[in-house]
Amino acid sequence: MPAKNTWERFFDAHAPIYEDNVFTKNTIHEVDFLLDELHLPPGSSVLDVGCGTGRHAIELAKRGYAVTGLDLSSEMLSRAAAAAKAENVHVEWIRSNATQFTLPERYDAAVCLCEGAFGLLGQRDDTIDQPISILCNISRSLKPQAKAVFTVLNGAAMLRRYQNEDVAQGRFDPLTLVESSEVRPQEGLPAVAVRERAFVPTELLLLFRIAGMSVLNMWGGTAGNWGRRALDLDEMEIMIVACKTAESLAAGDVGKLRA
Ligand SMILES: C[S@@+](CC[C@H](N)C(=O)[O-])C[C@H]1O[C@@H](n2cnc3c(N)ncnc32)[C@H](O)[C@@H]1O
Repeated sequence: MPAKNTWERFFDAHAPIYEDNVFTKNTIHEVDFLLDELHLPPGSSVLDVGCGTGRHAIELAKRGYAVTGLDLSSEMLSRAAAAAKAENVHVEWIRSNATQFTLPERYDAAVCLCEGAFGLLGQRDDTIDQPISILCNISRSLKPQAKAVFTVLNGAAMLRRYQNEDVAQGRFDPLTLVESSEVRPQEGLPAVAVRERAFVPTELLLLFRIAGMSVLNMWGGTAGNWGRRALDLDEMEIMIVACKTAESLAAGDVGKLRA
């Protein structure tokens, strides 16, 4: 059996208390925001990548959309499935690494929220290939001109938060915008060593273009405070609204970007 990705280990153990996090408390407002952006006729298909315990997926299903939630953590997904059952809604749940799934041209929209996989690097993940693979897979899963909304960590805020001392101690790598830390999934459980990648807007424009998507807007996307406002340097998260406009790289070509 292959070793679990470190984020899978973390979220499997964190699942029972995930929805206690304050940043999960704005789901209804966030889904209102998403639907304002996406302009989806009822019944449209929506893919939620890194869906976690399914809070957005289930709320979208309650509003009449045909939703697929995809996540790496079986524990997060089993909580999602139980919550959907309790709400009496159907959501298709898929357990997969977001760098590896293929669901070609199935969706009218996609969301990838609150670092749903994008930038949550496994210990062996390449800092460029991981996000590009996820973007290419999402792009391929969309119908032409379909829109997608992402929230990702803001590189400017991360750069402002760290000092040279953190770089020397290996807590932050300014070349790759990767933060390395040890996080306890629950009180009393051992800490898991994890890597999180932030992004700057210029590279996001390029990464999305490689994946065949045009960025329509970048706004403040900090959990609990989404808004159509200019990006603040200290904003924790960037929201990206994008549209599929072209073919993405083929899965096998992602590695060639490094050649
Ligand atoms: C911070 S949670 C966000 C969950 C949800 N989108 C939300 O807004 O509440 C990140 C989720 O991404 C999932 N995840 C992390 N790495 C992943 C990967 N490579 N592929 C798929 N899911 C992943 C985790 O299991 C976790 O459920």
